[in-house]
Amino acid sequence: MSETIEFLKNKIKDFRPQIGLILGSGLGELADDVGGIRVPYCEIPGFANSTVQGHKGSLVFAKVSGKNCIFMQGRYHFYEGHTLQKITYPIRVMKELGVEILILTNAAGGVNTELKGGDLMLICDHINLMGANPLIGMNDDSIGPRFPDMSEVYKKDLRKVAFSVAKKLNIELKQGVYAATSGPCYETPAEVRMLRILGADACGMSTVPEAIVANHAGIKVLGISCITNMAAGIVENKKLSHEEVVNQADIVKDKFKNLIISIIDNV
Ligand code: HPA
Repeated sequence: MSETIEFLKNKIKDFRPQIGLILGSGLGELADDVGGIRVPYCEIPGFANSTVQGHKGSLVFAKVSGKNCIFMQGRYHFYEGHTLQKITYPIRVMKELGVEILILTNAAGGVNTELKGGDLMLICDHINLMGANPLIGMNDDSIGPRFPDMSEVYKKDLRKVAFSVAKKLNIELKQGVYAATSGPCYETPAEVRMLRILGADACGMSTVPEAIVANHAGIKVLGISCITNMAAGIVENKKLSHEEVVNQADIVKDKFKNLIISIIDNV
């Protein structure tokens, strides 16, 4: 960690990020035109390499709406073969750099039939079905407790801000529970029915590990899913593809970008 921090501080000098953002599939473009300092993951000591198409791997340090932000343009996924500890290492780095608020975004499949492709869904809670937890192993008590409380991971006050900002911008913002599986397969229709019974509104393959580690470290989390498709089996005879996910994310990217920038302005 000290090597990572020293390397990054050398790049960013006295820039002190307050807000961290992770940009999901097809949503990374937001960090393209914020200027700032760009550091590819492959150069950062301790970071893994990102492999998925549509995921650019860079940290971007930039001032947005007057706030110092650190963007993860592209994230690590469990299905790439990294451990959950490795995937969430950047969150630990953000904490060391002084981040207090983390905005997590992702592309997700709609499980609740009230959702539709193109919707934005504020995450109010999650269900971890990854079969693993990034906090397994020795606990560092200086970061957070061995048995962290999870009763309000996605902070109510941040959600309130997101809703009021969305209203002002005339953007419809839904709200729901996000369930994470390991991937890389999309779910089967039977699994999607199970997720619905369990109380999930949307499903995906990310976000939960980062939210767990941020919550453990006392970082306030806000999560937004871009519903890129209805989950398997909901629309008859429709197959799922990564291409559809990226295309749909591309369609909503302007709406999404306006919302995020305005949230940064108001938190
Ligand atoms: N399932 C899981 N992950 C996803 C989906 C989905 O339907 N869409 C985008 N990411």
